[in-house]
Amino acid sequence: MFTLRQVTLTSITKRAFSSSAVSQAAKVAVLGAAGGIGQPLSLLLKKNNLISHLSLYDIVNTPGVAADLSHINTKAKVTGYVPDNDGLKHAITGADVVVIPAGVPRKPGMTRDDLFLTNAGIVRDLATAVAQYAPKAHLAIISNPVNSTVPIFTEALKKHNVYDPRRVFGVTTLDIVRASRFVSELKDTDPAEAKITVVGGHSGVTIVPLLSQCPFSFAEEELKALTYRIQFGGDEVVKAKAGTGSATLSMAYAAARFTDSLLRAVVNGEEGIIEPTFVKSDLYASDGIEFFASNVELGPDGVKKIHPVGKVSDYEQELINAALPELKKNIEKGIKFAKEN
Ligand code: NAD
Ligand code: LMR
Repeated sequence: MFTLRQVTLTSITKRAFSSSAVSQAAKVAVLGAAGGIGQPLSLLLKKNNLISHLSLYDIVNTPGVAADLSHINTKAKVTGYVPDNDGLKHAITGADVVVIPAGVPRKPGMTRDDLFLTNAGIVRDLATAVAQYAPKAHLAIISNPVNSTVPIFTEALKKHNVYDPRRVFGVTTLDIVRASRFVSELKDTDPAEAKITVVGGHSGVTIVPLLSQCPFSFAEEELKALTYRIQFGGDEVVKAKAGTGSATLSMAYAAARFTDSLLRAVVNGEEGIIEPTFVKSDLYASDGIEFFASNVELGPDGVKKIHPVGKVSDYEQELINAALPELKKNIEKGIKFAKEN
């Protein structure tokens, strides 16, 4: 019979090592694993050979998701936890990476900031548990509003004296995934070849695509329409899903890509891995902006090098100028909440 706290479903009980001399497989925990993002993300992670233990936590339904995934013939052991019997503690203890898609999604007419009221508390509680039971884990935060949830996570870790800015990442990969897809649609190219830089944050005007840095050229109207589509791509999905949620499948794809990059750098010791992500950053510190998304080189300790934004066009500078005040407001809101709660 299952115990609800832990459903251990394969026989791999110790850390597995891959055939590569430097590679060591990892424990990855997904918090919010039974949700719209959590389930497809967990499926994609089950296929990742760098993962020896996939640990799933949600407030409901995780044993079923874990049982289902555990039948897939890839190497990761899958365990599922709910809050009973210290489930969260067991889910994250010893995790190398914790990926967090827990929280409510948008409905049509809402901004990501409208989710703050509900998601801030969820994220704060999960961060407190991470600080206690997985203080060395690398943290990939998906829950919206990312511009505020990353500062909330940071403050909670600081309260417990376990904050290392190199290990806290806001996941903005979906903006880049969308940008390269949208550009490839326009230019009729392979999306894998359309590498687009997107900086700033993860909501509306704080999402700043730097299309002048990509190898394609755009007419002015085309550029404006494309920029708007990248900034508000999330709204397209929210509208199409008509009240049943926001992007889940493309987000799972994006988060699986980010987690894989992190594991390749942190666990496998690969060099030169660059992903865009929202991290503690000095790039706009003089404007009072503590966190900023840009291309970041990942290394064994997490953030290795934050790449500068680079040369931008006048139009992109205007976009950055519009993004900064909104970003500052979002970040300050998260910090204030975490300090007061
Ligand atoms: P969902 O409602 O389908 O799933 C969320 C899951 O979180 C649910 O299973 C729920 O039970 C769980 N949950 C709630 N409180 C929890 C807690 N305290 N501990 C653990 N689990 C908890 O929502 P979704 O579509 O998966 O979206 C999740 C979040 O991701 C939303 O906030 C959404 O806005 C955000 N999101 C971010 C991006 C991004 O690019 N960063 C993209 C898409 C969605
Ligand atoms: C997205 O970009 O799709 C997510 O942030 C979800 C949303 O609310 O749009």
